[in-house]
Amino acid sequence: MADHMDTAGSIAGLEAKTLDTLKQLDLAAGHWAVCGLQWGDEGKGQIVDLLTQSFDLVVRYNGGNNAGHSVQIGDQKFALHLIPSGILCPNTLNVVANGVVVDPPGILEEIDGLTQRGIDIGDNLRISSRAHVVLPYHKIQDSLFDSSLAKAWESPPLGTTGRGIGPCYGDKALRSTAIRMNDLLKASELKPMLARIVAVKNTMLGALAKSCGQPFEPLDAGALYEACGKHADRLHRYVCDTAHLLNSSNEAGKKILFEGANAALLDIDHGTYPFVTSSSCSSLGIYPGTGMPGGTVKNVMGIVKLYSSRVGSGPFPTELHDQLGQQIREVGKEYGTTTNRPRRCGWLDLAAVKYTTIVSGATALACTGLSVLAGIERLKVCTGYRVAGQILDGFPADADVLNSVEPIFEELAGFDQPVATCTSYKQLPSQARDYLDFTEEYLTIPIRVVCVGQRRDQIIVKDA
Ligand code: IMO
Ligand code: MG
Repeated sequence: MADHMDTAGSIAGLEAKTLDTLKQLDLAAGHWAVCGLQWGDEGKGQIVDLLTQSFDLVVRYNGGNNAGHSVQIGDQKFALHLIPSGILCPNTLNVVANGVVVDPPGILEEIDGLTQRGIDIGDNLRISSRAHVVLPYHKIQDSLFDSSLAKAWESPPLGTTGRGIGPCYGDKALRSTAIRMNDLLKASELKPMLARIVAVKNTMLGALAKSCGQPFEPLDAGALYEACGKHADRLHRYVCDTAHLLNSSNEAGKKILFEGANAALLDIDHGTYPFVTSSSCSSLGIYPGTGMPGGTVKNVMGIVKLYSSRVGSGPFPTELHDQLGQQIREVGKEYGTTTNRPRRCGWLDLAAVKYTTIVSGATALACTGLSVLAGIERLKVCTGYRVAGQILDGFPADADVLNSVEPIFEELAGFDQPVATCTSYKQLPSQARDYLDFTEEYLTIPIRVVCVGQRRDQIIVKDA
């Protein structure tokens, strides 16, 4: 860890405490994945940061800088977007694998920000040569489609992060307009490639902007080439064949932690489509997103925030539109790490989480956000959905159906006492334990970790 953090005095103690927590946790052998089981912002960063010390590599396999993973060490807060949350742990190799879409100025800004705060970034970071590159026209395309065109077409905007994620994955599937990290590094080939692609993008975006009365400034391929060259000069040292790196690390017996970005209900195939992101966010995405063989990861820690939140549009059956929703937002500081947008908040939806435990193959659970529930007299949890008086079997694939369901709630007693200083499961208020036990019984997967605050030392291990 960086020197200035050591001089802050508390890091050594915190690391000893973290090691103690990990010892209690006694993780099953083999590789692990951490996956969010709701609509993102479950607190994946805190869990990855905890587990990192037991692994040799931490790997991002999906998404881009639409993700915002928060890690708090002592009183220092870090927001990570593209760089794996393992970067804060010395001796960990952090890999941005091929399934990630990389925004070069975005990742460089993150590298610079971390460096300024004393975190060394060098041989501890690797970026896949196969990862696709987000370019400025992707961001224009993102905002054009999601605001002006959505308005002109009278369709609801998705409320994307505006980071160009969907258009970049779109180009990846289209192929002829895609640029990968290895292309970014080949100056002589990049120039004609960019000239061709920018011409296509200018024509397409210009026509789309005109159709909805928006101004559009054509992009200058030469200026973009210059900017890409500067980014490539700085990034090339990190770029390699990460599929080879990961497979040989696996063969050498190294332990790998996969950090899912976004979350299962935002999964392009299994989420609340079309109100989703554009990548495979569940553990299913690990294999295409890294090049490792299917089934490599036997253990998945599903992260469940003990209430729900969602940014952007889309169905949210347990959303609270009242004062309580506002209270949860304020107490839980539910404002986007990436876009600072206020998050929509509501009750825990166990019916949805039951579905995502299956899609994600969760073998253990980590629960976050408990402290936010303190002081709420009665706690409601959704255990199923009703449509036109009929109980639904399973989780609806159709967003319109999910929008129209009536949640079936179970009510549990709330708790008043703050939980932030509890250091063991039995110290938690009995009603908080009842709430957790109810969750565990409903989901039939063991809760192994309960976070009572956002700091590294506010993590309780629950006996299996
Ligand atoms: P982390 O990893 C919360 C949401 C956006 C939007 C939709 C599509 O921090 O949990 P996109 O820009 O991806 O095309 O937007 O997906 N979204 C997230 N919401 N946390 C995230 O990531 C998200 N990543 C995408 O708000 O509704
Ligand atoms: Mg987020």
